[in-house]
Amino acid sequence: MHGEPPAHPDRLLAFRPLDPTNRPAPLKTYTGVETLPLPRELRRSSLPAVDGLSGRNAEPGRLDDRLLGTLLFLAAGITRVARTADGGRVWFRSAMSAGNLHPVEVYVVHEDVHHYHPLDHGLVPLRRGVHVCDDVTLVLTGIPFRTCWKYGERGWRHLWWDAGALLANLVAAADAHGVPAQILVGFPDAAVAALVGIDGVDEVPLALVRFGSGELRLPPPDALEPVAARADPVAGRVLRFPLVVDAQTETALDPDAVAGWRQAALAVSMPAPATVEPPPDTYPNDRVENVILRRGSTRLFRRERAPSPVLEWGLAAAARAVPLDAAPAGTLIEHLVSVHDVADAEPGGYRYTAAGFEGLTRSDDPRAAGTRLCLDQPLGGDSAYTVFHAAALDPLLETLGGRGYRAAQLEAGIAAGRLALNAVAVGAGATGLTFYDRLVSRYFHTEAAPLLATAVGVPLTSPAPSGAPGQPVELSGYGRVMARLAAGLDGT
Ligand SMILES: Cc1cc2nc3c(=O)[nH]c(=O)nc-3n(C[C@H](O)[C@H](O)[C@H](O)COP(=O)(O)O)c2cc1C
Repeated sequence: MHGEPPAHPDRLLAFRPLDPTNRPAPLKTYTGVETLPLPRELRRSSLPAVDGLSGRNAEPGRLDDRLLGTLLFLAAGITRVARTADGGRVWFRSAMSAGNLHPVEVYVVHEDVHHYHPLDHGLVPLRRGVHVCDDVTLVLTGIPFRTCWKYGERGWRHLWWDAGALLANLVAAADAHGVPAQILVGFPDAAVAALVGIDGVDEVPLALVRFGSGELRLPPPDALEPVAARADPVAGRVLRFPLVVDAQTETALDPDAVAGWRQAALAVSMPAPATVEPPPDTYPNDRVENVILRRGSTRLFRRERAPSPVLEWGLAAAARAVPLDAAPAGTLIEHLVSVHDVADAEPGGYRYTAAGFEGLTRSDDPRAAGTRLCLDQPLGGDSAYTVFHAAALDPLLETLGGRGYRAAQLEAGIAAGRLALNAVAVGAGATGLTFYDRLVSRYFHTEAAPLLATAVGVPLTSPAPSGAPGQPVELSGYGRVMARLAAGLDGT
């Protein structure tokens, strides 16, 4: 936790954060296997973006190759590229990711198993003829070292947040094409890891995304041949953080525990609406793919008042029920909101749930409070409002164990990703943020633990446009913006 002494100081790994001599590769690459190109033309959705983001249904669609390519690109594709001073390249992707490290990989399971390569916008064949599901299922995995390289042990949580942000895009795009997705966090870890050919330690399974209704028929791990294709190592020296390895293995599920675990979720998940009223301005020609491609994390906010729908609609639509096995009633989380400057809203601290806003605290200087809570980052206070997605951990852990913690972190990432899309859809901007854990609970006078923060407000400048698959737009002035941002930070 930020701002607290570590709980297990003797078990922390001594390492050099951001070691430039051991930088992880940003993309997983297999050698000696030919990538099968996906169609590069994106399929346009037919529903106004704000309708889809409010939970309204599109006409049922069919998940063919072109739509699969569209969904993969909108969730995990490379959209922008910046040149660094030393001539290197930094990729930006359609979903946000802490430190732009993108630890999440995506595999496509149908009759065969493929890995999605975002730079090539293609599929790398890993297994033929497995027939483990009748419809397409995606497997999301995380490479801990890619994010622990910067964040150390805290990187374990980043896997779930970043996967959640990716899933927010994926679910929004899938909904807009009438191919609704169901996210599963209850699955047998070892069997899923074996299916996609990962070791379950340096790359771990995070979530499944099912299109269609059939269960995966997963063979036991030892019934599968190892995947023959070899991937390049993620770094010269892949560090293993003992607490990260433990957190992952101790929250794994055996095949016979999955059904009971999903059933138990009924007791802790809370009701949330599947749909909300769209905002008053309807933006009839905007589409969710345009919203996703306009998104880029706001690097500087103007201290200006945001129109009411940016909060009223944006947050309500982000807090809608998630299609997640761990939240059958709707949601596992609540939202603590620090309102700074929004039309028709009193500045202060609120709890937001399906029941609406509940005032929790007032401050003489809410902007200063927002900045302080977000690790003294000005973005946290310059925003029109900052949300701390949170959960009451005791009941969650009691009923769903450590696996419930995974689920809540993932849902926080989904809420953050949705909030960012909603902000962009109504002309505002947003960024994910980290925060001082205990300070947030204290400020809002709550037992609930913050999981992830999202700041929403009036951006100083709009993000650069995004490119199409295989054609990322080159960013200019990247170094200048990063230097300006770093000047206001304390090293996050
Ligand atoms: C979980 C999470 C935490 C983040 N934390 C911060 C943060 O503390 N400060 C910050 O300036 N940006 C933060 N970001 C934004 C990332 O830096 C940003 O997503 C990344 O640089 C990629 O840029 P893009 O979102 O424009 O694609 C966070 C993003 C996520 C998903």
